[in-house]
Amino acid sequence: MAERVCPVWVGYLLSSPLRKLIQNPEKILSPHVKPGMTVVDVGCAMGFFSIPMAGMVGPSGRVVCVDIQEKMLQSLKKRAVKAGVDAAMEYRLCVNGALGLEDLDQGVDFILAFAVVHEVPDPAKLFAETFRALKPGGRFLLCEPAGHVSQQLFRDTVEQARACGYQVVDSPRISKSHAVLLEKQVRL
Ligand SMILES: C[S@@+](CC[C@H](N)C(=O)[O-])C[C@H]1O[C@@H](n2cnc3c(N)ncnc32)[C@H](O)[C@@H]1O
Repeated sequence: MAERVCPVWVGYLLSSPLRKLIQNPEKILSPHVKPGMTVVDVGCAMGFFSIPMAGMVGPSGRVVCVDIQEKMLQSLKKRAVKAGVDAAMEYRLCVNGALGLEDLDQGVDFILAFAVVHEVPDPAKLFAETFRALKPGGRFLLCEPAGHVSQQLFRDTVEQARACGYQVVDSPRISKSHAVLLEKQVRL
């Protein structure tokens, strides 16, 4: 069952540099995010992961930042300008329960959803939308907060992703989190 969305004041806490001591974006994402990639940060909040991802994709890449709360995106934009990465960013507000990724149809290399899916009322819809947006061979790192999200709920969420066509290719160890790496496999 989806929970109420993360309040904006928690968005400020989640962007604290101290969080890097337990969840370092470069360490978590560097195996997956490379220069020139198009990546999507679903439930980006104020950009704890999106801003470092902009550095990783570089000037030829693109970071599509999606959130359901306009205030999160406004704060992210200010931070991205300050960090000098605004040119690589695209800000998208979710409306009517959709992520709005239709135009990216099979154009995305990598998707992150960190501590988001338990807040989403219809995870199957999110998985179907992201699956369509990914290139064949593209990957989706799904992380949920351990403790807050039970092992069983996480297993059920992964099953929903598999039902949409994703394959589980890894279970990376990420501090204080449940995590799986999903792939849209290439059809031969
Ligand atoms: C707990 S925060 C995590 C933020 C960020 N991923 C991080 O780890 O710092 C969850 C974020 O997901 C967003 N969110 C919740 N439901 C959403 C939905 N249906 N679509 C897009 N974003 C959503 C919230 O507004 C919030 O910014």
